Amino acid sequence: MPTSNPEHGRPADWGDITLTQAACRILETASPAAKSIRSRETAAAWRHGAIAEIGAVPPPDRPARPDHPVLKHPSEMPRRRGAAGRVALLHAIAHIELNAIDLAWDMIARFASPDLPRAFYDDWVMVGDEEAKHFTLLSTRLAELEAAYGDLPAHDGLWQSAQETAHDVLARLAVAPLVLEARGLDVTPVMIEKLDKAGDIESARILRIILAEEVGHVAAGWRWFGHIATARGLDPAPAFQALVRRYYRGTVRPPFNRASREAAGFSAAWYEPLAEPESPA
Ligand SMILES: [Fe+2]
Ligand SMILES: [Fe+2]
Repeated sequence: MPTSNPEHGRPADWGDITLTQAACRILETASPAAKSIRSRETAAAWRHGAIAEIGAVPPPDRPARPDHPVLKHPSEMPRRRGAAGRVALLHAIAHIELNAIDLAWDMIARFASPDLPRAFYDDWVMVGDEEAKHFTLLSTRLAELEAAYGDLPAHDGLWQSAQETAHDVLARLAVAPLVLEARGLDVTPVMIEKLDKAGDIESARILRIILAEEVGHVAAGWRWFGHIATARGLDPAPAFQALVRRYYRGTVRPPFNRASREAAGFSAAWYEPLAEPESPA
């Protein structure tokens, strides 16, 4: 990572660092604040051409993370109501966004290949940049609510899904953007409504930004899944369904946010065949 130029507070020189090398340095950064800053700086450097080569530096198995939050099994997560419930919700989303920063850069470092066009890297750099923005918005909001990321426990489900798909870019694209991030599109409008009802306009505003930008992340997943599946001679939709059945341990459940999924190019014909019936209220 370049040293910051104290006079301008900007990266002074990226030298001949490659994109995969810069991605690994983000993954190896434990501090969430520093990870977010590096993610955004690296994205800017790629966009401006200060980082030009992709290189081939493999990522660590697990990204570096701070000592807190403590990672627990999802069933051990405490349930909270009222204002504490809102903090718990924002904390849980912040944790997802932090994982998402690492997932974007892991996509680049792990699956970099001369077979992939530059647009593949452009898309995942954009995702890494926006996930860092989302994490930063949520940490700022938590601070306004006199809380901080790390105060509450969190679960490790996201990175476990990542590890189970570390061997194949198509499996990773199926599970990370097209199941997990698409699920975010389904559940976020309900959270926004609850925050609005509770009068927490600022948190609702942040979630609206996240929801709008996550459409682009699902779109990137859909685009590259189609590109790579077709290059392998596979029919994309059935290939997607087979990979989700094999590598996703959870259930794909309605109700779906069809409008946002459709806006990402992700048509119901892809995911409907995977859907388990809606659980009774
Ligand atoms: Fe995000
Ligand atoms: Fe995302």
